[in-house]
Amino acid sequence: MSDLETPDQEIPARKMPARKIPDVSSSIDLTTSLGSLQLQAPTATASGCAAAGRELAQFGDVRTLGAVVTKSIMKNPRSGRPTPRMAETPSGMLNSIGLQGPGIEAFLEKDLSWLTENGVTTIVSIAGNNVDEFGELANRLKDVPGIAALEVNISCPNVESRGQVFACNPFSAASVIETVRREWTSSAPILAKLSPDVTDIVEIAQSVVEAGVDGVSMINTLLGMVIDLDRMKPMLGGRTGGLSGPAIRPVAVRAVYQVHAALPQLPILGMGGIRTGHDALEFIAAGASAVSIGTVVFGDPGAPWRIADELGAELAKRGFTKLTDAIGAAHER
Ligand code: SIN
Repeated sequence: MSDLETPDQEIPARKMPARKIPDVSSSIDLTTSLGSLQLQAPTATASGCAAAGRELAQFGDVRTLGAVVTKSIMKNPRSGRPTPRMAETPSGMLNSIGLQGPGIEAFLEKDLSWLTENGVTTIVSIAGNNVDEFGELANRLKDVPGIAALEVNISCPNVESRGQVFACNPFSAASVIETVRREWTSSAPILAKLSPDVTDIVEIAQSVVEAGVDGVSMINTLLGMVIDLDRMKPMLGGRTGGLSGPAIRPVAVRAVYQVHAALPQLPILGMGGIRTGHDALEFIAAGASAVSIGTVVFGDPGAPWRIADELGAELAKRGFTKLTDAIGAAHER
């Protein structure tokens, strides 16, 4: 398959189950916000782990999630990297999907329209091969109804700069955000998705804040590799892949803590190996205002709802009545 082809991923929309209101946490106020975006629940899906939300509709009412964060969409259809694309690792998963997707026009027609018609709070993730493509995507999306926020996935290679990942350099990260900010005339917030593969994540966060983001999503996967010793070759077709799952959670919590300490007013959507409400509360205490649920969804598609319930119970156990009171609670005050 060429890089311009993509399989038809049409999946029939299912009727959503009756609206599900978490009961365990009913006495706890779990509402939160990411800048100007009010969230009715603290758990969102993580980009790339629930496609555009439609598949999840058979497991729960997608409208009751904090948000669906869509798989990063690029300007053109793309078939992604060679197979195999996934490998299991201890407490984690390595993936090398290569931003497979249908391209912006098909996404708008098939995916965003479904999300909008069903009243789902939608954060659209975008990725580009170069700075201009990010700008074109922001421009294409700016007047499209139903986008609650834009997540700018800067953890992809800049094909115009020796494949250097935008998010690994403060100048290229800022350059993407400045361009998106210029094109994005919508009032919906812009979040930059940060990579942990840097020496100083605070420096990158500061650079995207100066460039105009309203918040950050953190963290993306860590670059890793598995060797297949039978073939004496890297296991993944793309050789390297992104490590996700519980193995990276302490790295993610550390990154959220550091960025919140340096930029306490900056809204953070935290993610990285969250499997339970207990895990989610670590991120909130470190400084995240909400969390995205990723790898666990592959084995437990109901996890985003379950974790919201568990988070309510974890907060209640500790005497909190509102989630927002726990944001950054692990910091010296
Ligand atoms: C992928 O599609 O390869 C994942 C992209 C990402 O981790 O941002």
